[in-house]
Amino acid sequence: MSVKQKKVWVCKSCGNEFGAWLGKCSACGEFGTLEEDVKITGKNSSISRKAGFLSDTILSPIYSVQSSETGERLLTGYSEIDVVLGGGFSRKSITVFTGEPGIGKSTLMMQVADRMARCGQKVLYVSAEECVEEVRNRGKRLTVSDKILVSNESEVGRVIQLVQKESIAFLIVDSVQTIFDDLIDSRPGTVSQVTNATLKLRELANSGVTIVMIGHVTKDGTLAGPRVLEHMVDVVLSFEGDDKNFWRILRANKNRFGSTQEIGVFAMTETGLDEVKNPSQYFLADAEIPFLSGSVITSILEGTRPLFVELQVLVSKTNFSMPQRIAKGVDLKFLNIILAVLEKRVNYQMNLYDVFVNVIGGLTLKDPGVGLGLAVAIASSLLNRTLFKTDYFIGEVGLSGELRPVMFMDKQISDAVSLGYTRIFCPKCSLKKDYPGIKVYHASTLSDLIDMVVNA
Ligand code: TYD
Ligand code: MG
Repeated sequence: MSVKQKKVWVCKSCGNEFGAWLGKCSACGEFGTLEEDVKITGKNSSISRKAGFLSDTILSPIYSVQSSETGERLLTGYSEIDVVLGGGFSRKSITVFTGEPGIGKSTLMMQVADRMARCGQKVLYVSAEECVEEVRNRGKRLTVSDKILVSNESEVGRVIQLVQKESIAFLIVDSVQTIFDDLIDSRPGTVSQVTNATLKLRELANSGVTIVMIGHVTKDGTLAGPRVLEHMVDVVLSFEGDDKNFWRILRANKNRFGSTQEIGVFAMTETGLDEVKNPSQYFLADAEIPFLSGSVITSILEGTRPLFVELQVLVSKTNFSMPQRIAKGVDLKFLNIILAVLEKRVNYQMNLYDVFVNVIGGLTLKDPGVGLGLAVAIASSLLNRTLFKTDYFIGEVGLSGELRPVMFMDKQISDAVSLGYTRIFCPKCSLKKDYPGIKVYHASTLSDLIDMVVNA
């Protein structure tokens, strides 16, 4: 049967097909997700075996399957990446690496290619997005190994031929939205092109190649293209950060071979991305700058690793009937809840004051464990009382003004002690360890804890 193509409209969110354009997908209810595409009928070009013949289909009892091949790992040598991947890239796996334009995806992958090439792996960097000269210039800036092979090929069939001809072990495709299949008429980036190219690369990965595809993101930060892409790959990595700040965070949103709890931290420098082994140093203000009222050190949990941050709050008398609440790096609703608790449970007249919050380093805090730090920073600015640079606050604030322990609190406190914090303020709880020479202040309510801070 020959391959036939038919024009259809496909929903990027759920993959349903329609004969005509609709503003709203009637299957999943999303608006503006329908995109023109082609439907292939007849024999699928990516599946070469004849249907109906079982002769080459392997059926095995579960424990007779050899685990060594699927379990083999390729370490990148960057511990921040290897930890996120759960112990390096799995051979025969496909990873999608996403992030906003300019965040450093191509840079990081070039550095990974370099490490792989230096470990003796044959590496091919396929750049359908930039010309080879640009790739070369980036490589030169990063002083990468001259063993890395580069190509501008963007047709998936020819990329696969190149990989097979050169016996490539590690393939980087930059990007999945720009490669295409000659057999399909639609433009690169459409649902049919992306899924078809991924299917073909999947077959290539099964034959023993480790593949990383760089992927674009949409405005809300999710992987651009069809949702089904995330199901077709083994690992979805995302690279986040702010282009105004030099730090970047690597996360696994999906990982078939490890946890999705770990993060890796990098800093963008003149010579590429450097691993940051002690990330807290980037989010704490310079030790030389005096610590004034309203500044507090707290921590958030990133994966299983605490990250220490400095919160700054300015409380000033308002000139308006509606006081201003401005928060950078903290959710405004979260700030309003903490202010309401301070008003009702600690008897501060917060309605008379404007409140401004800032997180040093441009980080966005979503961890409820910063509640105590935020409340104390507000109280410190309101009472104009300076804390010590060696004070550390951790705990969640409940609506009744009670303090609650947070996840991995022992670990966070023990890290704080090893970083040199000498006074720890936290909710009432039994800590597993004793810290000689360290003062630990426990309280069960926010009001009691603020009293302790004021009188300590
Ligand atoms: P790039 O890896 O091209 O981003 P992406 O592939 O995610 O779009 O990197 C983009 C930015 O990184 C670019 O604006 C310049 C900066 N950069 C450095 O600061 N140092 C370097 O060594 C390199 C290679 C890039
Ligand atoms: Mg790029």
